[in-house]
Amino acid sequence: MNYKEALQLDIFSTISKAATELQLETYVIGGFVRDLLLKRGDAKDIDIVAVGSGIELAKKAASLLPNKPKVQVFKNYGTAMIKTKEIEIEFVGARKESYERGSRNPAVENGTLQDDQNRRDFSINAMALSLNENNFGDLLDPFNGLQDLKDKRIVTPLDPDITYSDDPLRMMRAIRFATQLNFRIDPVSLEAITRNATRIDIISKERIVVELNKILLSSTPSTGFILLEKTKLLPHMLPELVALKGIDEKEGQTHKDNFYHTLEVVDNISENTDDVWLRWAALLHDIGKAPTKRFHKKIGWTFHGHEFVGGKMVHKLFKRLKMPLNEKVKFVQKMVMMSSRPIVLSQDGVTDSAVRRLVFDAGEHVEDLMTLCEADITTKNPKKFAKYRNNFKIVREKIVEVEERDQVRNFQPPVSGEEIMRAFNLKPSREIGIIKHAIKEAILEGDIPNEHNAAYKFMLAKGKELGLKVHNAT
Ligand code: CTP
Repeated sequence: MNYKEALQLDIFSTISKAATELQLETYVIGGFVRDLLLKRGDAKDIDIVAVGSGIELAKKAASLLPNKPKVQVFKNYGTAMIKTKEIEIEFVGARKESYERGSRNPAVENGTLQDDQNRRDFSINAMALSLNENNFGDLLDPFNGLQDLKDKRIVTPLDPDITYSDDPLRMMRAIRFATQLNFRIDPVSLEAITRNATRIDIISKERIVVELNKILLSSTPSTGFILLEKTKLLPHMLPELVALKGIDEKEGQTHKDNFYHTLEVVDNISENTDDVWLRWAALLHDIGKAPTKRFHKKIGWTFHGHEFVGGKMVHKLFKRLKMPLNEKVKFVQKMVMMSSRPIVLSQDGVTDSAVRRLVFDAGEHVEDLMTLCEADITTKNPKKFAKYRNNFKIVREKIVEVEERDQVRNFQPPVSGEEIMRAFNLKPSREIGIIKHAIKEAILEGDIPNEHNAAYKFMLAKGKELGLKVHNAT
């Protein structure tokens, strides 16, 4: 099969010219070829393999390009990179790799194209297109990757036990590709992943998180998490989720399976947001339910305080996985901790003051919180579903209404501490805090509007109540 037409980019003819000058067999390989054959978006990364020195080829190609881009050389890896505004092109020499069992360091030797294809992860990622003048655009596909693309199949070029133990991250990559592309993992491969699952422990947390994020960002993340669970990989990265699995029964009373419920919530939220952190919040929103689960004879199963416990667990989990401990973890924690607030509110009746408090506490993230809570409705009872949806619709409308009037989303006290000190001739003291708190409460309760004059008047009255003398009212 020839794909000359698909290799129209100038960069390919330049690399081809460089290859001819150096007399190096050269191919484009891997994800670029896969995505091209799948007609899957515009690829940003191009992998070039040369039978010989990839670094020499990169340098020659750069010298032939009109703007003479810089070549970044990674000597230790024998690779080189050219970056342009739109694309990154990585050059590597074909390798024959033999890993010694038990060692993480491969013994790398130069090899042929076929050697290089053998050591790649999946048949669909091992296809190469020739950039050589004599057969430019020819597809070299020794493992029938093209057929596997058509059959939607993830299968390794070699015995899967070898491919996966060479780089255990590939077990996650298999699951990630199956999720992203809606492919099926070959049953023999799936068994091999299960057999080798513990080997994932030698992989760095950062690489694991890259794959988790890609699974989370696909259109139906549950596919990936179900596979991670089935293959026993999940306890190695997210034991908190595994702990949610199962239904307990006592005295005829059961609770829902919070693992599958969580996955439904993640799929639901993925229809409404591409924000990976909000998707993380959906994934983790119930993790506090495992440690807080109790059975009471009269009321059945409870998970008291699971939001707070879950919030604490989020921080530990992010730390363990070496994820960012900045505003992102705070955001996820906040979502988890507040995840029941709108539900409680919609059950108790949507009063103005409750909505104002919700907006005050959630601040700029109130819409995200509503999106999470809407995704959390997984009841299969159509009547209940409609009722909950409608309640949240009312909450959303009230949020807009209350915000227009009182602007408590990014609450700034309408009367400053200095004004209070001036009014009562006070030095910094407890009373100032008490008055400020009372003003905030009065606004949230709807006793006074969120504006300076009303708040000032309220402050004077409150001060008097505390026995303070007005010194300098403005
Ligand atoms: N590869 C591999 N084993 C890995 C990682 C990568 O064999 N653990 C090979 C595959 O041939 C892959 C290529 O290196 O196609 C490029 O890897 P990478 O850029 O990480 O992934 P892509 O396949 O390009 O896919 P994506 O961009 O979606 O991650």
